[in-house]
Amino acid sequence: MLNQVEKVLIIDFGGPEKTIVAREIRESHVFSEVKSPTITAAEIRQTGYKAVFLCGRPTLEGMTKSGGVRPGIPFDKEIFALDIPILAFSFAARVMMQLKRGQVAIPGDNEDGAWDAESEELKVEIVKEDKLLAGLGQSFVAHSSSPYFIKSIPAEMTGLARAENMPYLISGDLSRHHYALDLQAKLDQQVVRQIIQNFLGPIAGVKADWRMEDYLEFALKDLRERCGDKHALLALSGGVDSSVVAALAHRALGDKLHAVFVDHGFMRLNEPQWIEEIFRKERGLNLKRVDAEERFLGKLAGVTDPEQKRKIIGEEFIRVFEEEARALDNVDFLLQGTIYPDVIESGIGAKKVKSHHNVGGLPEDIGFEAVLEPLRPLYKEEVRELGRLLGLPEDLVNRQPFPGPGLAVRCLGECRKEKLDLLREADHIYREELEKAGFKGKIGQYFAVITEAKSVGTTQGGERRYADTIALRAVETTDFMTAKVSRLPWDLLEHIATRIITELEGVSRVVYDISPKPPATIEW
Ligand code: XMP
Repeated sequence: MLNQVEKVLIIDFGGPEKTIVAREIRESHVFSEVKSPTITAAEIRQTGYKAVFLCGRPTLEGMTKSGGVRPGIPFDKEIFALDIPILAFSFAARVMMQLKRGQVAIPGDNEDGAWDAESEELKVEIVKEDKLLAGLGQSFVAHSSSPYFIKSIPAEMTGLARAENMPYLISGDLSRHHYALDLQAKLDQQVVRQIIQNFLGPIAGVKADWRMEDYLEFALKDLRERCGDKHALLALSGGVDSSVVAALAHRALGDKLHAVFVDHGFMRLNEPQWIEEIFRKERGLNLKRVDAEERFLGKLAGVTDPEQKRKIIGEEFIRVFEEEARALDNVDFLLQGTIYPDVIESGIGAKKVKSHHNVGGLPEDIGFEAVLEPLRPLYKEEVRELGRLLGLPEDLVNRQPFPGPGLAVRCLGECRKEKLDLLREADHIYREELEKAGFKGKIGQYFAVITEAKSVGTTQGGERRYADTIALRAVETTDFMTAKVSRLPWDLLEHIATRIITELEGVSRVVYDISPKPPATIEW
């Protein structure tokens, strides 16, 4: 199927912009791939991409002072000579201008760092009608992408939209279908969505033939063909990706799928039972739950450093999984829930954004014939859609991210059973109240943390207690790379704090974390 769908290419100069562009492209039912700027015109022609998007920007070292690309950064200029429509955003629009010999201006002496400055709101006026801007009206509001605005354009380009002092905010070489947008995809999503739709269909003539229903059929057939009569093994964590792989592979392989669920003891309240219920009882999956709580806690005794804890849990997880894999001597394939953002993040050549810290970094040398990754081409939203098509419950498909090392990350200091149990109870109260108040699905991520701080308070009976402090965290985020603190209603927070302190004897104080990311991280 992946050979049959029409593909478009995203050339990524770095940073999160590609994610936004890719999401919009997929929303239009078009399949896209992200590559680094080292891709050549010949490779693009050979793969048969129907359109090219240029987006993102390198770190400041990669730029010239006028916001163009430094000579050392590779980019094959021949790409502009291909007969393929090109749409370039912000920094990449400047690269396009530079290579086509337009000019970029730097106002004043505002130089390095300016790309990260607050963007100004602009009133954009359309000066020439074009298919690219259909549906946007005569004017719209957008944001400039940097102070390095485009000052002049080469002769073959035409200005399509302007803003005050920015005569070439959007311009295009209309005969070649090359467009430069001096806009940030991140800030102007509605505008960008419309432009991408206009570009893909009416301009580039790309077929909207990427549908999850078709992918599901393809993935089932592919798994059946690759596995034949052989058996496959999967580490099910209960996260979205491994759950969708489990449901998919179960439909394709039935009893030839063996899922192992390692319960490391760091799951939330009742979560292991819930996962078992869904997969074993309801769906009849061949699932083994390994109760390894004691084993993990034993390894963590006396360990307080968070990185050390993650490392120990990761290693122990592999050890437990290996033992289970060896015990099943008829398994030939290992299934993994790798998704496309994992592939991009682990390096398409651009700067690495986030290192992988999932527990599921499984060894490939347990003697498997091959590792199968049926979600590899998919973005998170597509994985969720596939999960829905496979009949997984919404609560599972729409889960918030949960760290592989689980609550161990949210239990500061040494991970002891009583402390984890206390955290589980507090976290449960917090979630229950937020969900009752209608916040489920409306906040990016929320959870409780048990800190190392003890403080004085009184019990319900009025006796002094010197007990633990629970911190509550709730953040609004879409990409999890930046996050704003959720402004939860004060009354609700107070109610939750009161419930936690009165219902849990081991907690004498509750605090709310008001740190944005950056500089704080989401997890503690
Ligand atoms: P941070 O704390 O880096 O978190 O701001 C960003 C997102 O990643 C999740 N996270 C993890 N996920 N294993 C995971 O699978 C981990 O060790 C881990 N640490 C953080 C976090 O919940 C947030 O959504």
